[in-house]
Amino acid sequence: MCGIVAYVGHQPAREILVEGLKRLEYRGYDSSGIAILNDRPYLTKAVGKVAALEQRVWKDNPEGSVGIAHTRWATHGKPTEPNAHPHVDCTGQIYLVHNGIIENYLPLKKRLMAAGHRFCSETDSEVLAHLVEEAYQGNLEAAVQRALQQVQGTYGIAVIHRAHPQEIMLARRGSPIVLGVGKEESLAASDISALAQHTDQVVYLEDNEVARIGPGRFSITTLENRPVSRGTTLLEIGPESMERGSFPHFMLKEIFEQPEAVENALRGRINHAEGVAKLGGLESVFDRLQQARHLIIVSCGTSYYAGLYGRYVFEALTDLTVETELASEFRYRKLNLRQNTVVLAISQSGETADTLAALREAKRKGALVLGLVNVVGSSIARETHAGVYCHAGIEVGVASTKSFTSQMTILVLMALLVGRGRDLSYEEGMSIIHGLEKVPDDMRAILAQSDQIRKLAEKYCAAQHFLYIGRKYQYPIALEGALKLKEIAYLHAEGYAAGEMKHGPIALIDPAFPTMAIAPEDGSYEKVISNIQEIRAREGHIVAVTSRGNTTLGSLVDDIIEIPRNHEILTPLLSVLPLQLFAYHCAVLRGCDVDKPRNLAKSVTVE
Ligand code: AGP
Repeated sequence: MCGIVAYVGHQPAREILVEGLKRLEYRGYDSSGIAILNDRPYLTKAVGKVAALEQRVWKDNPEGSVGIAHTRWATHGKPTEPNAHPHVDCTGQIYLVHNGIIENYLPLKKRLMAAGHRFCSETDSEVLAHLVEEAYQGNLEAAVQRALQQVQGTYGIAVIHRAHPQEIMLARRGSPIVLGVGKEESLAASDISALAQHTDQVVYLEDNEVARIGPGRFSITTLENRPVSRGTTLLEIGPESMERGSFPHFMLKEIFEQPEAVENALRGRINHAEGVAKLGGLESVFDRLQQARHLIIVSCGTSYYAGLYGRYVFEALTDLTVETELASEFRYRKLNLRQNTVVLAISQSGETADTLAALREAKRKGALVLGLVNVVGSSIARETHAGVYCHAGIEVGVASTKSFTSQMTILVLMALLVGRGRDLSYEEGMSIIHGLEKVPDDMRAILAQSDQIRKLAEKYCAAQHFLYIGRKYQYPIALEGALKLKEIAYLHAEGYAAGEMKHGPIALIDPAFPTMAIAPEDGSYEKVISNIQEIRAREGHIVAVTSRGNTTLGSLVDDIIEIPRNHEILTPLLSVLPLQLFAYHCAVLRGCDVDKPRNLAKSVTVE
């Protein structure tokens, strides 16, 4: 949620740190701060967007080539300057930034205050600066290790000390920290997006490790001071993937990247000769997968809706029994995992705290735990037994778009792999494969209608409430369409299974409460038509997403958005695009901050 950047090298730290914060701003952004070491260390903080901090830094123009910076997403204490990071110890020697939550901060704070430490903020994070101060006896690395040994909870931290002007200490447990090693300079960040401009040599820190970086060098130890030997990894994402190009917003760029993201998800993963998927990441567990009887999919938000879609797909293509569960609920259930249960964790960021906790619980109970993750090297990717990457590229917009359709594509491939090992025929497998290969062009045809969808947004965006309905494969799309409208346009939207509507929400329908009906001509079409009739009878306005060339809906609804025809199972990969575009255009028309919606963060690393 929060973001960390650290730099030690030969260049002025200010530009690199501020630029890094701007790249991390999508993770959380209610306040920010920066500290740079010099004869007189520089510290400044600002409430609001990074631009507010940037103005101060440019005005002050601090010297120094070692520093740390932070964007905060408030948990403990409001977004104020004292609560913003870096936090400083009582001596003014130590500066520290923190992501995560220190669960035992209250008893620690009480003890430290009794020992004479003075606190300036309401945060849990500040205890860390004082713990390092207390433990410091000339060796910063040892002080950080000793301080963190007392802490319960999660952290990713960066620490600098005036007496160690050429080094930065970093540590992680539960909150990511990546080191970037360049020539005569080193960086660290909570997210590779802040490093990609500077180096392609990165090192992922593991939980309970402490790293020391200096210009062009790094070393790692455990919390117990055992040395860790690890080389650098080549970063495969180039800096250009963080640019918006000619698009006004990252979200729109990412919506338009979906055909390519699906192509990337499919690349090298289809075996035409056998009508099956090839997923290298699952080879090591293939035998266990073939013996599986039950699948539980755990995830949050949009990734949860992808999982819900996956349930229908696995049920159609395999004989597995499938459950989907919100990770935040799953982690606290009394789990009675039956034999041969596979748990699949889906996450774009690979860092979502609830999903991570859920998969750890499932592992503890002996389940085979798989991951479907976009961010390479993320915690979920590393902690699952095996898994598949989306390869959707960096997703910057807080609202997930291309990662959703990538996840759906890979869920189909996974179901195809399992199904073909059971009773799914070659012909059925090939009809899915042919459909999948057609999806990118089908998506391009929908994206070409963006202007038409903007006109619909103009027509409807004055409404305050919307209903989204769909059945079976389209039900998760109704939920996702409603989520998109809520999170970026701040419009109230209910996603409902179309058949459930008459059990309550139909009471809301009136001429000011429009419905988005997802009604492709599939096996549920006739049933959805009945639901549309019920809305019409109550004078509700309806926009229908339906199959190209549909001749029956025109007289029943106010507006139609056409999507190409494809295999019934794959149509949701298409029907979600108009809903993403509708939400996007509504948000722009309403003057909302599309890429950084209020109160939200891209990567939800707290519970
Ligand atoms: C959706 O647009 C949001 N970004 C949010 O619901 C997100 O899907 C959720 O927080 C899960 O994130 P993850 O995929 O990174 O685990």
